[in-house]
Amino acid sequence: MSDLQALREKYLAQIEAAEDEAAVEKVRIAALGKKGEISLKMRTLGKMSPEERRTVGAALNALRDEIDAAIRARREALADAALAKRLEKEWLDVTLPARPRPAGTVHPVSQVTEEIVAIFAELGFSVAEGPQVESDWYNFDALNIPPHHPARQEFDTFYMHRAEGDDRPPHVLRTHTSPVQIRAMEAHGAPIRIIAPGRVYRSDYDQTHTPMFHQVEGLAIDRDISMANLKWTLEEFCRAFFEVDHVELRFRASHFPFTEPSAEVDIRCSWEGGQLKVGEGDDWMEILGSGMVHPKVLEAGGIDPNEWQGFAFGLGIDRLAMLKYGIPDLRSFFESDLRWLKHYGFAALDIPTLHGGLGR
Ligand code: PHE
Repeated sequence: MSDLQALREKYLAQIEAAEDEAAVEKVRIAALGKKGEISLKMRTLGKMSPEERRTVGAALNALRDEIDAAIRARREALADAALAKRLEKEWLDVTLPARPRPAGTVHPVSQVTEEIVAIFAELGFSVAEGPQVESDWYNFDALNIPPHHPARQEFDTFYMHRAEGDDRPPHVLRTHTSPVQIRAMEAHGAPIRIIAPGRVYRSDYDQTHTPMFHQVEGLAIDRDISMANLKWTLEEFCRAFFEVDHVELRFRASHFPFTEPSAEVDIRCSWEGGQLKVGEGDDWMEILGSGMVHPKVLEAGGIDPNEWQGFAFGLGIDRLAMLKYGIPDLRSFFESDLRWLKHYGFAALDIPTLHGGLGR
């Protein structure tokens, strides 16, 4: 009898110690399998006397049932533990906020262009467009800059390559948005009030110049438009655009072949400590050229200068963006540095309107 007791203790201990399903199965085979220790013992019953068989048989049956039950219980416990462990690991907090998805930003040039368009739209200007690869007639001749005029040199123009024998008119990357004046006059005649934002190109590169940059052309033609209207329009624009109490403008007499008289406008700013600030300091940044449209330009656009007159201006969009958002280097605008774009970029829903507030 005592050897049954020993078997019982041995197998119960092994079952208890089994750490996984495979270990439990091993114990089961050792004890209750076809050649298991307890099964073999059962087979010896036949050789026993009926007396002995009754007692030993009953004890063996009881032992087999007990071991079998212990194995089942252990299996269940192991399965429960495994499930609990999985649930622990796969636990999900459905109240957590969703993971942020990377979103692009709106480039300051695009944002500022929208701001400018919003302001001039309020003043009754509509948007016009022209090609970036422009014939030299639109870019120069029509704007009173004939061939060999010294102003052609001042522009650092990129000329389009022409194969030998190609007799199409020479083309350039437009050096300013002014050719859109001519195109708009041709298309709509007078009176007219348009702005034309877009890319322009000049071979130039430093902190405030890049070979590609952005301008907005403005053109207003009517019967009695004067220089005073020009000044008011530009001042009104700057007040709305900068949304600060104090911006100081400086109108400087200047010269452009396509306007007479002409004025350039600078804005007071400071570069102190590598930071660009508008409205303070002792520096001036040129932001636009302007003037009364030259009679020859009106003529080139098919408008009679004896009947009509008006003003035009060309604003540097990138420089306005630098000033408004304190971006000290123009070159950084076009380097596509993601950190820069994240920092200075705008969310897609920051749509500029005059009443809703422009910019940030
Ligand atoms: N086109 C000139 C420039 O790019 C700016 C300008 C436009 C000046 C219209 C006068 C009138 O420098």
